[in-house]
Amino acid sequence: MTIIDGKKISQEIRNEVKLATERFKQEKGFVPGLAFILVGENPASQSYVKSKGKACEETGFHSITERVPATISEADLLTMIDRFNTNEKIHGILVQLPLPKHIDEQKVIEAISPAKDVDGFHPANVGKMMIGIDTYFPCTPYGIVELLKRSNIDPSGKHVVVVGRSNIVGKPIANMLVQKKQWANAVVTIAHTGAKDISYYTKQADILIAAVGKANAITKEMLKPGVVVIDVGINRIDDPLAKNGSRLVGDVDYEHVKEIASAITPVPGGVGPMTIAMLMVNTLKAAGGKL
Ligand code: GUN
Repeated sequence: MTIIDGKKISQEIRNEVKLATERFKQEKGFVPGLAFILVGENPASQSYVKSKGKACEETGFHSITERVPATISEADLLTMIDRFNTNEKIHGILVQLPLPKHIDEQKVIEAISPAKDVDGFHPANVGKMMIGIDTYFPCTPYGIVELLKRSNIDPSGKHVVVVGRSNIVGKPIANMLVQKKQWANAVVTIAHTGAKDISYYTKQADILIAAVGKANAITKEMLKPGVVVIDVGINRIDDPLAKNGSRLVGDVDYEHVKEIASAITPVPGGVGPMTIAMLMVNTLKAAGGKL
């Protein structure tokens, strides 16, 4: 059984981006720039943006973080995005989601120039991904593809079952893995809350991708022996034995599932760190560089 070490693999990628950025800077005389917009005080969002900003610094990128109150109007937020759209030092724009209810998330996503859409959420980029044209891939699914590749797990011809259909993870990972190309070419099923019996689908998985958002949603009984398990969940649960009374777990019942899996990603230290690494890859690309 292999524990897929996302921390190690993400660090390798970040080192590669750092080296590529040094070369890029010598050649072009500038560095990739990434702008973050953080709306409100959501603790998880604050923590993610902080980690992403730190990653930019370590990679040698220029970055700006704009923190604005949750009461900001939609119009003011759109104006802020537009200023970054025309700022030559900024190659990527990331508005951390979720946004307060009075702001139309889709409108915000579409306000970002597709050329600076390092999240890969703009419909123009989603469309390109869908038809197999190279573009910015959303960071979490892109990270999953890299995890599989760098663990030498080839999805080609395998049955990948994705549980979850969000725009950020479920739909894009299904789309990326179904493409007719290397390190994809899988037969893909998307299972979700609309299914009468989720385990009917999960039991058929050669590779199971859990993006449900619920602790212990995927148990050993729902899987077949030898399955590769990619756990995208980040859930905080009470744990009286933990230092601050809680700890992070994924969507998969890790302790039991690892008894039958051939490979599994832990939480934390699996998919999570990959998201940031792939954001660095996308930002380098946005500036015109490559690995
Ligand atoms: N919120 C949760 N994941 C993401 C992400 O990948 N990008 C942005 N912008 N917000 C998120």
